[in-house]
Amino acid sequence: MRLFLYTLFILGSLKTILSHVTFTNLKCGSRDRNFMEFEKCDIKAVNRTHKYIDIYMNLFQKPVDNITVNVKLMRHDHGYKPFFVDLSFNACKFLKNQRQPVVKMFYDIYKNSSNINHTCPFDHDIILDHLWTGNLESDFSKYVPMMDGDYALFSEWSVNNIDRAFLNIYIRISDRQK
Ligand SMILES: *[C@@H]1O[C@H](CO)[C@@H](O)[C@H](O)[C@H]1NC(C)=O
Ligand SMILES: *[C@@H]1O[C@H](CO)[C@@H](O)[C@H](O)[C@H]1NC(C)=O
Ligand SMILES: *[C@@H]1O[C@H](CO)[C@@H](O)[C@H](O)[C@H]1NC(C)=O
Ligand SMILES: *[C@@H]1O[C@H](CO)[C@@H](O)[C@H](O)[C@H]1NC(C)=O
Repeated sequence: MRLFLYTLFILGSLKTILSHVTFTNLKCGSRDRNFMEFEKCDIKAVNRTHKYIDIYMNLFQKPVDNITVNVKLMRHDHGYKPFFVDLSFNACKFLKNQRQPVVKMFYDIYKNSSNINHTCPFDHDIILDHLWTGNLESDFSKYVPMMDGDYALFSEWSVNNIDRAFLNIYIRISDRQK
């Protein structure tokens, strides 16, 4: 795993940071409506090149302190196929020690825009407010050797080992904003 991460890192560093990243779609869904519901799951466009994501998730059984997340990076090639990253982690443990580098990369991208940026438990609704693609451009391509194309980040969220929600973010990487 470690060697694999270094390889990713080196490949990523070779790539210039000229890529442009844009959100193309967003899908959120509850898998347990007694537990949680999405009140908001939107992509907004400020102009042709700048978009942001807003999410508001109602939690009905608080506090939450046992969260498992599975994250898969997908690349579009006759359908979305797994691409390099497929990992599951204990979110509460991560938030406490922030040791896993790939998870930390995702965390650094969203932490300023979300209230899931403190240690467990969570006794409030979950907000992701104005997550800009600008942050992705600077951080993402440093780690993952991403060629131009369509990608998605599929995530599944479990609490107490029961599936509760999924969140899929679709992005496009192109050479430069045209
Ligand atoms: C789009 O909006 C962003 C943020 O307000 C701004 O920085 C950028 O220059 C704008 N781009 C164009 C092409 O207007
Ligand atoms: C988040 O905020 C901190 C402190 O305000 C800043 O140093 C950091 O660059 C920000 N990160 C992102 C991804 O915007
Ligand atoms: C957590 O996010 C809030 C906004 O939701 C922000 O005000 C705060 O500075 C963030 N804290 C950290 C540690 O990033
Ligand atoms: C999380 O919940 C599951 C199912 O109830 C339990 O087996 C597991 O031990 C819990 N993990 C933690 C860290 O509390």
